[in-house]
Amino acid sequence: MSRTRYSSEPRDAEAFQDGFDHTYTRIAGVYDFAVKVLPVWKTWLKHALPYITGRRVLEVSFGTGYLMTRYASQFEVYGIDLNARMVAVAKRNLSRAGVSADLRQGTVEDLPYDDGFFDTVVNTMAFSGYPSATKAMAEICRVLAPAGRLVLMDINYPANENWIGTRLTHCWQYAGDLVRNMDRLLADHGFEYEDVEIGGFGSVHLYVCQLTER
Ligand SMILES: C[S@@+](CC[C@H](N)C(=O)[O-])C[C@H]1O[C@@H](n2cnc3c(N)ncnc32)[C@H](O)[C@@H]1O
Repeated sequence: MSRTRYSSEPRDAEAFQDGFDHTYTRIAGVYDFAVKVLPVWKTWLKHALPYITGRRVLEVSFGTGYLMTRYASQFEVYGIDLNARMVAVAKRNLSRAGVSADLRQGTVEDLPYDDGFFDTVVNTMAFSGYPSATKAMAEICRVLAPAGRLVLMDINYPANENWIGTRLTHCWQYAGDLVRNMDRLLADHGFEYEDVEIGGFGSVHLYVCQLTER
């Protein structure tokens, strides 16, 4: 019997979102420290770098901006994150790294950019914290250029349902993250994609997605 249990969407999206937002306000400093000192997180994030392509790049939910500091010098970079403290810490990190990007506070569900503006959208370890998978994905698709690329990293079940990776995925769910059927979601939004398991016994996935239809 399969141990894969996808999450239901929250009944109260606003309360769900506010809960995460309050948490990030409390932990922004600790989060920044953890990303900088924990080799495993940095190693996961760096898997996204070779797939970023084109001229204009949007990172949705950049957190404290670690990944962005690694690629911002090579592209025209924009970023949006819901949490004001994360945005402030990311601005400081980019400035210390001597790179720049247009960073704003806002939600993935209402991106303040024109249709088709970006060649690549980057999204790491954040999608499972969004209250509506379809609203978030529709907005990401809207701002992507025709044949644009989405580089999405998040927790999900290992394809081979190994015991440790499956339990790790359950742990994220217990912690409040929403594990979705990404195969269905990406296909429904017109993507062709490669799903690479990059760590956590197959529970950390990198989806490299190409828009195929509008
Ligand atoms: C776990 S952190 C990931 C940060 C970073 N991408 C990383 O990999 O370290 C999740 C981030 O998503 C942001 N976030 C949560 N809900 C959001 C929303 N609706 N729109 C935009 N950002 C959101 C949070 O503020 C937080 O910075």
